[in-house]
Amino acid sequence: MEQELRFDGQTVVITGAGGGLGKAYALFFGSRGANVVVNDLGSTSKGEGHSTKAADVVVDDIKKAGGNAVANYDSVEFGDKIIETAIKAFGSVHVLINNAGILRDISFKNMKDTDWDLVQLVHLKGAYKTTKAAWPVFRKQKFGRIINTASAAGLYGSFGQANYSAAKLGLVGFTETLSKEGAKYGIFANVIAPMAASRMTQTVLPEDLLGMLKPEWVVPLVAYLTHKNTVETGGIYEAGAGFVSKLHWERSHGALFKTDESFTPASILARWNEIVDFESNPPQYPTGPNDFMGLLESARELPSNKQGDVPVDVKGKV
Ligand code: NAI
Repeated sequence: MEQELRFDGQTVVITGAGGGLGKAYALFFGSRGANVVVNDLGSTSKGEGHSTKAADVVVDDIKKAGGNAVANYDSVEFGDKIIETAIKAFGSVHVLINNAGILRDISFKNMKDTDWDLVQLVHLKGAYKTTKAAWPVFRKQKFGRIINTASAAGLYGSFGQANYSAAKLGLVGFTETLSKEGAKYGIFANVIAPMAASRMTQTVLPEDLLGMLKPEWVVPLVAYLTHKNTVETGGIYEAGAGFVSKLHWERSHGALFKTDESFTPASILARWNEIVDFESNPPQYPTGPNDFMGLLESARELPSNKQGDVPVDVKGKV
């Protein structure tokens, strides 16, 4: 029999947990022994208005099922207050799930500054503020698990979602850096691109597809990644409809040019097929900026590419 992953004694903060995916996470963690902080502003999916009801209903559900939970109604832009609620109620925070989100979909031509700013504020600044407040606690206790929520729209682009795509891919970069800075303190950060039926997707996805996309089916991955025994960090995952996969960057084998007067736009044109070729030579899977320097240095070792050392002021800065 498979071992049940439990979260006894751990405090899990979930933003935007009054509905959709966040609610599914909250009910799960509440049923597995965690102390849950259910944050929700109770706004519309466009980020307007506020209400305490969404968070209260989830807290009641968790308590009725015998779990521990408290509500917090602050906007994630005041994420420090959400972490304060966790510390006051339960003494610490161990898992942070940055999930709150809004949409302000509109073609780029018609996008207003408010559409751009509000989306960046909730998704990016919100994740920054909660994480910034939890970080010293994580460092001190040498333990922390962070899930940030990206989206296929961020990874691949999506019509009418320039604001949302930018914020969501921003969260990928944010997660990657947190995973690098947090590793030695036992702080592991991963980012997910979920797919689930919620009020956010009910108007954009067809009915039959929505039926295949229960929010509960994103929960197992999130729970696995935040468990104390899981040491995965810096991963980008897609999850929905029972499908779970990992993504990473792929770099073409590329072309290395002599950096003399022969390195012209025309030389790029001449070797364009090599630059964009992922087939004839094995691609690389970079995981950090320093990979690029290593790659450059080893490429320079090839007899055909001998052209001296990488300049000192460029080393490690690319
Ligand atoms: P949802 O609209 O059901 O849930 C989002 C929750 O966040 C709402 O309860 C809302 O009140 C809350 N919220 C909004 N602004 C807030 C703020 N400033 N402070 C605190 N709470 C706030 O949407 P869903 O689908 O559950 O989305 C959850 C996350 O997953 C979002 O970040 C979304 O962008 C992301 N996502 C969802 C996908 C899906 O297929 N449902 C696809 C890709 C990403």
